[in-house]
Amino acid sequence: MPYELSVERGGTLRVSSTSRMGGPERGRARRLYLQARLNRWAGRPARAEELCRRALGLRDYGRAYWLLAELQLRGESYLRVLSKVHEHVRPATYIEIGVAAGDSFALVRPETRAIGIDPKPRLRVRPGPLQQVFAQTSDEYFASHDPIAQLGGRRVRMAFIDGVHLFEYALRDFIHLEALADPDALIFVHDCYPLDERTSSREQRTAFWSGDVWRLIGLLKRHRPDLSIQTIAAPPTGLGLIRRLDPHSRVLSERLPELIEEGLAMEFGSIASAKPRALNLVPSDWSGLRTLLGA
Ligand SMILES: C[S@@+](CC[C@H](N)C(=O)[O-])C[C@H]1O[C@@H](n2cnc3c(N)ncnc32)[C@H](O)[C@@H]1O
Repeated sequence: MPYELSVERGGTLRVSSTSRMGGPERGRARRLYLQARLNRWAGRPARAEELCRRALGLRDYGRAYWLLAELQLRGESYLRVLSKVHEHVRPATYIEIGVAAGDSFALVRPETRAIGIDPKPRLRVRPGPLQQVFAQTSDEYFASHDPIAQLGGRRVRMAFIDGVHLFEYALRDFIHLEALADPDALIFVHDCYPLDERTSSREQRTAFWSGDVWRLIGLLKRHRPDLSIQTIAAPPTGLGLIRRLDPHSRVLSERLPELIEEGLAMEFGSIASAKPRALNLVPSDWSGLRTLLGA
């Protein structure tokens, strides 16, 4: 579609379509998105973010969400962060919940004994000899297996929770993994930094969707002050990192139904204006993260 570029008063870059193809809202959203990209490129991130939001006000627009994610979370992507952590920490054991096509599972080093769990795994690369994938939900897997035996008698050193994008699933996964982990193990949780209310709703209404996993961070901050909790600003949806674990803690498991109810009552509006503080956001740059991992 042909476009014209102009500079408005105040320096805002404007894109206008010279074509009549496509619905009017679709075209307007696309122009706003292109303006957002230009303004980001011109070093005006706040204006770019505003334009993205205006485009998203017109329709569900995946590219505008991706740009918004890059504007709010400006560091390395979650896959790059996980790759560097595997390389740096070289965990002896690893569990991943939600492997899908294996983009994150493929980052596991060949010498790491690893378990992947996913009811519908679609791995593009065959797992290594020390890696097993179980085609089950995580609840089914934890109810029917002895993960420590499957990990060669060793406790979990690193884990990644990336299954169902709903708070109570992430909470149950965290409880299972903490009980199996060494106290100085690392538990990563995907999708902890919601971009807006629509993409953080419990029903998926947008192609770009992080669900309400962010509630896990809020709940752990409230009830487990003994844990070290950060959200790494890794696009597209933030990467939670939970450390200083207590495998003997029963604080969460003993009150699970009550805590799920409490978590579900947390409103996105209560964190919307102060997300970085509410979710303990830290930059996604490797030198800072390496220091954090050593602390
Ligand atoms: C977002 S994808 C995982 C992406 C992958 N970790 C990556 O980074 O490429 C989520 C996966 O969770 C799986 N899943 C759905 N329900 C699950 C459950 N109850 N337990 C474990 N995995 C589940 C889905 O089948 C899907 O493949």
